[in-house]
Amino acid sequence: MVTFPRIIAHRGSPRAAPENTLASFRQAATEGAKWVEFDAALTADNRVVIFHDDDLDRTSDGSGPLAETLFETTQALDAGGWFAPAFRGEMIPTLEEALELFVALGLSFNMELKTDPGREVALAEIALPIAAACWPADLPPPVISSFSRQAVAAAKEILPAWPRAMLFDHLPEDWDELGKSLGAMSLNANQKHLTREQVMEVRGAGYAVMAYTVNEAARAETLFGWGVDAIFTDIPGEMLKIFDRK
Ligand code: G3P
Ligand code: MG
Repeated sequence: MVTFPRIIAHRGSPRAAPENTLASFRQAATEGAKWVEFDAALTADNRVVIFHDDDLDRTSDGSGPLAETLFETTQALDAGGWFAPAFRGEMIPTLEEALELFVALGLSFNMELKTDPGREVALAEIALPIAAACWPADLPPPVISSFSRQAVAAAKEILPAWPRAMLFDHLPEDWDELGKSLGAMSLNANQKHLTREQVMEVRGAGYAVMAYTVNEAARAETLFGWGVDAIFTDIPGEMLKIFDRK
């Protein structure tokens, strides 16, 4: 049985620090977050780094697809200066670095497997053993999620004890069949398209519901009122002040 708080820091605290960097995760912890969500992706040479976009351009001083970039090249990039000069020198974290920091800060996490075409299973095969090796066995297991069915299915085979969530933009017709086949603990949906009826049905079928990305308190209130179990937010500190610290 996995327990998680209602407020999950999305990519750290990305309004206050550059997303998916160690600085962003530290900032989320400083704001009181207990869980963070981050995106794990593969470099060209199959190293797992923490990065959201397909391309390096928006959140680093690099360019082109991460999937075509060698790990060594990613480690020479600046992932903080684009956000603010004070963050110059922030690097693209490795999975090991991120997890080491989480353990030190007492954070738990939702690792989203951000796949590129053809390496959906490979990402799970490479990232999950690293995560399991870095995560103390006596701590509650974190959550693994992905928009890729193949990646979530691979997670079920590789690390069955860790809870899984399937990510959706729109909830598909076959969500229950899919959730059951993946042994999913939660269905995580885009809050923009989520309805009260869907939340009730999904929860009624035994899944948790997590909604992304919720940055307005009134919307969070509505979603929690519908029964949504957790929200991913870019403003964890503000949401925690309004909601809870569970
Ligand atoms: O895991 C929730 C959310 O992060 C999914 O969308 O694009 O922000 O990674 P995205
Ligand atoms: Mg994500």
